[in-house]
Amino acid sequence: MKDTRYLTFALCKGRLAKQTLELLEELGITCEEMKDKDSRKLIFVNEELKLKFFLSKGPDVPTYVEYGAADIGVVGKDTILEAGKKVHEVLDLGFGKCKMCVCGPADAKKYLENHELIRVATKYPNIAKDYFYNTRHQTVEIIKLNGSIELAPIVGLSEVIVDIVETGSTLKENGLVVLDEVCPLSARMIVNPVSMRLENDRIKELLYKLRSILKREA
Ligand code: PRP
Repeated sequence: MKDTRYLTFALCKGRLAKQTLELLEELGITCEEMKDKDSRKLIFVNEELKLKFFLSKGPDVPTYVEYGAADIGVVGKDTILEAGKKVHEVLDLGFGKCKMCVCGPADAKKYLENHELIRVATKYPNIAKDYFYNTRHQTVEIIKLNGSIELAPIVGLSEVIVDIVETGSTLKENGLVVLDEVCPLSARMIVNPVSMRLENDRIKELLYKLRSILKREA
C-alpha cells in the first residue's frame, strides 16, 4: 500500500460519527487514535489502510466533500438537501432515521388546505422553499432560525415550522402536531465526484462491503 493515496472521510460530529465508526469497525476499519477522548487532534490516520478521518459540523461535511478536501462524507439527508452541493449520494446507512415535517398547532392545517400566504420558520430554508413552492405550489414567507424552531409558532413568529421530527416528543410537549410530511431522513454516505473516478476500485469495494453488512443487519 506504499504508494496508495489516503482516502479521507469527513464525519458529522456526534452520534452519526459514532455510529459510522462502529459500522466501519465491523469491516475491520478502525481508528484507535479517535477513541482518545482527551485528544485535541483534528485529523486521525490509519496508516495501514491509508485512511484519514476528521470530524466537522454537519453542514460543513458536504462542503469538504464538494471541494475534495474529503473524498467521502457521512451526514444526514437533511443537511445534504439543504446544502445542495455537487456530491454523489451513494449509500443510505439506515441509522439516524427521522422525518422532515411541516408542524404547527393543529388548527394551522387550514392554512395549508387554503394555500394561504403564511410564515414558515425553519433551520432549512432551501428544503422549506422547495417543498412549499415546487411541491405544494404555495407562496409563503420563509423565516430562517438556528434552533429551537418549535418556539416560533408558540410565540407568534410564524404560523408553521419545517423541522426534523424524530420521536415527536418536542412537538407533543409544546402542543404542536405534524401537519404534513416533507421527506424521510437518515444518515447518508456522499462521495466527491472526482474521487469517485480516481478511487473507483477502493470506494466501490468499501460500498460493496458496507451494503452487505447493512443487508445482513436489516
Ligand atoms: C431536533 C429538531 C427538533 C427535535 C426533534 O432539534 O430540530 O427540535 O430534535 O426531536 P424529537 O421529535 O425526538 O423531539 P435538536 O435537538 O437537534 O436541536 P435544535 O432544536 O436546537 O435544532
